[in-house]
This record gives sequence, C-alpha cells and structure tokens, in this order.
Amino acid sequence: MSLKRILGVAALLATAAAIAQAPTASTPAASPAASPAQAAAASPAAASTSATTTALPSSLPQTPVALGDAHAMGKPGDAKAGQAKAGACAACHAIDGNSTDAQFPKLASQQERYITRQLEMFKSGERENPIMQPMAAPLSPQDMRDIGAYFASQKVTAGVADDSVIKTGPNAGKKFYMVGQQLYRGGDPARGIPACMACHGPTGAGNPGPAYPNIGGQHAKYVVARLTAFHGGLVLGKGDWAKPEMARVAKNLTDEEIQALATYVEGLHPAAEDAAKTASKAAASP
Ligand code: HEC
Ligand code: HEC
Repeated sequence: MSLKRILGVAALLATAAAIAQAPTASTPAASPAASPAQAAAASPAAASTSATTTALPSSLPQTPVALGDAHAMGKPGDAKAGQAKAGACAACHAIDGNSTDAQFPKLASQQERYITRQLEMFKSGERENPIMQPMAAPLSPQDMRDIGAYFASQKVTAGVADDSVIKTGPNAGKKFYMVGQQLYRGGDPARGIPACMACHGPTGAGNPGPAYPNIGGQHAKYVVARLTAFHGGLVLGKGDWAKPEMARVAKNLTDEEIQALATYVEGLHPAAEDAAKTASKAAASP
C-alpha cells in the first residue's frame, strides 16, 4: 500500500515559517488576496516562495464575473436557481458537485464561467462527449450560468496525493507527487513547460476572469484523461473562443509527469481544511 499525502498550501507555509523561525503567521483570509495573475508574474525561481506566501485565491469573494465574449448571454448566474436546475446532474456529479466516481469530474468550486463555456461546447459538439451532449442540449445559456454559479458556490473536497517513491527512470528516488509539485510550481523552462500555478493558482482554484478552471481536488484519473488529450493537441472552442493554452502546456509532458501532476492536483487544496482532515484521518485509521 502506498503512502498518501494531503497537500495543504498554507500548511507548507507553516512548516517553512517554523523552520525559519519567522514571526509572520499565515493569515490568508485577512490579507487581500493576490490574484493568480500576480503569481504568474513571479519568476519560476520565486515560484515556490510565492506559492506559500500568496494569499489563497479561494479566499477571493465569489462575485459574478461578466462574460466578456460573444457567448456571454443572460445575466450573471443565480446559485439558488441553479441548485434546482442541477438536480439532473446529481446522479453523476453529486448534488454538491463532489462526485465520488472518478470518471465524473468534480464540479464543486468550479468557475461559473468555465462551467458555462464547457456546457456550451458540449451542447454544440465542440467538446465531444456522448454522455454530456444530451445533458447540455436542453439547457439555455441562463440555465448554464445558474448551474455554474451553484456549483461555484460549493466547496470542493480534496483527495490525497501519491507519496510513493519512483523506482526507475529519470525521476528514480523522488516521491511521485513531488515530481508533479515541482512542475506545478516552477514548470520546466528548458522544455517550454510553464508553471501550472501561473494560471491555476497555488491551490488550483483557477481564475474566474479568463475562465482558467479550478483543478484543485479534482479526481486524478480525470486529470490524466484531460492532460493526455491536451498532450495530443486538443484545443477546445472555435475561432476567438479557442483556448490553445493547454495544448501548448501539455505538449512536452511525459506520461510519468502527467500521472505525477494529476496526483499532486488531486491532493491540492487550501490548507484550512487540513486540521479537520488530519483529525478525521487519525480517527479513521486503526
Ligand atoms: C450520466 C452521467 C452524467 C450526468 C447525468 C451529467 N454529467 Fe456532466 N459529465 C459526465 C462525464 C462522463 C463528464 C466528462 C466528459 C469528458 O471526459 O469530456 C462530464 C463533464 C462535465 C463537465 C465538464 C467538467 C470539466 O471539468 O471540464 C461539466 C461542466 C458538466 N459535466 C456539467 C454537467 C451538468 C450541468 C449536468 C446536469 C445538467 C451534468 N453534467 C450531468 C457525466 C454526466
Ligand atoms: C497559460 C495558462 C495555463 C497554464 C500555464 C496551465 N493551464 Fe491548465 N488550463 C488553462 C485553460 C485556459 C484551461 C481551460 C481550457 C478550455 O476551457 O478549453 C485549462 C484546463 C486545464 C485542465 C482541464 C480541467 C477540467 O476540469 O477539465 C487541467 C487538468 C489543467 N488545465 C491542468 C494544467 C496543468 C497540470 C498545468 C501545468 C503543467 C496547466 N494546466 C497549466 C490554462 C492554463
């Protein structure tokens, strides 16, 4: 059985601060949240520092963001109205958006705008999926935004990252999730791989403005499937709605790196949850 690790970002700060005897405590909720764009401006060398000192994007107020493109139809989503409309989604995604079966992505904490975009694309067939196409087909743009606002208001539960040691190959001796963590925070400039954190933020919460999705806590199996598709060159959306970022990002990732990133992402979450997690884990273990 492999060891598993829960990856709380502020917990890392706490550890680092303890080692450095730094007097500054982490106060993510109180300090004004730095935007992921600021994290993006940080150089790869500074990335691990900023990952642990940047206020968590998840502490940003969940204000609706105006959709700035041709597909922006309807009013900002209404989470209350969305809850009623999300009943049809619960069988697979769970009513709180934390699906238990890894073949169905978690929708909890997902950006309203990202959900709307994906639903539009499932409906039009731009994102091909025989299960989701009929689910999205009857939805109006306003339904999509309401459902998006509802799932955005739900809190994603994190999984645990794989802590086992890689035995062979270029990463032999490293813990599996550490390979993912390094790429997530610093990328690999020599191979043209940017830090995932630059767009998805230190806790994986994404960025509602440009619809960079939340990926923190997502099922590793689903993340592997997405990264593998992007690695193969997948660009979703047509014309000025295309988002080519991920095809570029994933182009040079190896299979092992995709697996390591996926397990790292599954364990990623704001550290406030750690106390409860550790307690319940301790209670559950024999
Ligand atoms: C029968 C199971 C099922 C039902 C019911 C269902 N979905 Fe899905 N959904 C899926 C599967 C499978 C995927 C993954 C598709 C893929 O891999 O491209 C998915 C993907 C999605 C995604 C993309 C998530 C991401 O992270 O990119 C969204 C958004 C979504 N579903 C919304 C909904 C909504 C809203 C409803 C209800 C109106 C719904 N789904 C109902 C099975 C389902
Ligand atoms: C330049 C910004 C940017 C960077 C850097 C970036 N991403 Fe993304 N990512 C995006 C965008 C934009 C999307 C949504 C694409 C779409 O909607 O078509 C996305 C989507 C994803 C998805 C699919 C989410 C879902 O729910 O289906 C995963 C997984 C992902 N990114 C992981 C990563 C990883 C891992 C890295 C680092 C190796 C990374 N991303 C780096 C912008 C970025």
